[in-house]
Amino acid sequence: MLQDHHGRRFHYLRLSITDVCNFKCNYCLPDGYQCDSEREFLTLPEMQALTKAFAGLGTSKIRITGGEPSLRKDLADVIAMAKNTQGIEQVALTTNGFRLEKDIEKWRDAGLDSLNVSIDSLDSKAFATITGHEKLQSILRGLDKALALGVAVKVNSVLMQHFTASELTRFQAWLKDKPVTLRFIELMQTGDNITFFKQQHLSGEPIKKTLIEQGWARVIRDKAAGPAQEFQHPDYAGRIGLIMPYSKDFCSSCNRLRVSALGKLHLCLFAEQGLDLREYLRCNDVQGLQLQLQKLLGQKEATHWLHEGYTGATTHLAMLGG
Ligand code: 5AD
Ligand code: SF4
Repeated sequence: MLQDHHGRRFHYLRLSITDVCNFKCNYCLPDGYQCDSEREFLTLPEMQALTKAFAGLGTSKIRITGGEPSLRKDLADVIAMAKNTQGIEQVALTTNGFRLEKDIEKWRDAGLDSLNVSIDSLDSKAFATITGHEKLQSILRGLDKALALGVAVKVNSVLMQHFTASELTRFQAWLKDKPVTLRFIELMQTGDNITFFKQQHLSGEPIKKTLIEQGWARVIRDKAAGPAQEFQHPDYAGRIGLIMPYSKDFCSSCNRLRVSALGKLHLCLFAEQGLDLREYLRCNDVQGLQLQLQKLLGQKEATHWLHEGYTGATTHLAMLGG
């Protein structure tokens, strides 16, 4: 089992398969994706070596992220590869939903267990303003299709200043009969969005307070469940979660490691640098990689330094898929 010096165990790998994205979320890639250099993203055999190495060290869950992972033509093959790796029990995908309606059946058939989709507003116009795409209705149809196919769905919504009481009410009305978990994520500062962050950051605490006043109860989650705080209410099929990276002890429940589309291990979303694993992946050296991973984990720090405005090497989250 992969474990660090702070007693945290890592059974969950977030694997980015491309950093290209077709959306222009205002907090992430406001000017769209800029291709600055030729790069070779991980190949399927390289991902296979990586997955085997992690699974052999106790990783049971893989989340495929981007950029936007569905921009890769071999996404279904990546899902199937992960699902067929011994030890991997759960394969999840984070997507902006652009191809959800069209491709969800294919992904499910490949072995996808669960899905995270970003929906920053349920107002079509606001959604288009934030992301640069008029795709909300298609994404909502895709999401229903996923539920009907038995794929578990979580929705991510980044909290920003436009988020008012009426937005919360609208999301709650939608959750009445939608068995999805909606997670409000506090905006995080990255290297690229400092001014935007200062203007737009909104704390999740007042929402938490409102939920509790309305009778939403904290769901007691497994110790290994990660840093979201989840709430449920008897009148609602859906749940609401809060991800508050600036709150005390956020990092103590960290259960994940990240690998970028270029094959670098990131010990934290906001780590100083990615640690190159590619030499092992290229020659399918699973054992060598496992020894290296155990060694590198010794460098994992107790917490990010976001409170001090320190964002490490992360210029935007399209680099690492959040
Ligand atoms: N702060 C918070 N969440 C972010 N995401 C992307 N950039 C940021 C940021 N700066 C979210 C996306 C997506 C998830 C992968 O990360 O909206 O839901
Ligand atoms: Fe938006 Fe995700 Fe693309 Fe960033 S990577 S622009 S958050 S869809």
